[in-house]
Amino acid sequence: MRLSRITFLFCSIVGLTGLLIQPSMAAGHKKKMMKKMAPAELVSYEITDGPAIKSINKSLTGKAGDKAAGEKVMVNKKKGNCIACHVITKLKPKAVKSPKKYADMGLIAPPLDGAADRYTEGELRMLVVNAKAAFPDTIMPGFYRADKLTRVMGKFKGKTVVSAQDVEDILAFLVTLK
Ligand code: HEC
Repeated sequence: MRLSRITFLFCSIVGLTGLLIQPSMAAGHKKKMMKKMAPAELVSYEITDGPAIKSINKSLTGKAGDKAAGEKVMVNKKKGNCIACHVITKLKPKAVKSPKKYADMGLIAPPLDGAADRYTEGELRMLVVNAKAAFPDTIMPGFYRADKLTRVMGKFKGKTVVSAQDVEDILAFLVTLK
């Protein structure tokens, strides 16, 4: 009798403590997960009218872009992957030397050769940030946007394909396409 009472008391204490601790642990875990998944604050920008299409005249970061880094983002399958759709003749020799990395140049979209002759720097920034602002029906993805998307997988919610600095790096490469 006494033993079962002690056992009962013991079990109650352990059980109750468990009940009290578990939700707070779960909440802590949830908080941690939320922090991990929290979208980075998007840089705000102003859209103006350029000579040909809409334009974002101001740098997103205020930091000059690095064209070598930009090229890396453009051929990275998990980032820009611009060459999946666009031919960039300047990169063809690299495609021959390193076919795995540079893959076959896509033939879905217009070649980017001479893009800097057709558009201003601000217009090119607009195209990389959100091409749909210039060409509403385009299949080109918006690389720096997180709104108006459909069925986004949980871990990608609120995230952009590339970072604001990636946009500036890509741009540093695009302006050389004359
Ligand atoms: C899924 C295919 C696809 C991907 C990936 C893609 N684009 Fe495009 N892009 C297009 C299409 C299609 C157009 C033509 C616009 C239209 O739809 O009428 C275009 C247009 C452009 C133009 C304007 C070209 C012109 O001369 O009018 C630029 C500049 C450009 N893209 C840059 C990029 C960059 C930089 C990347 C990578 C960060 C990229 N694109 C990734 C499909 C793509």
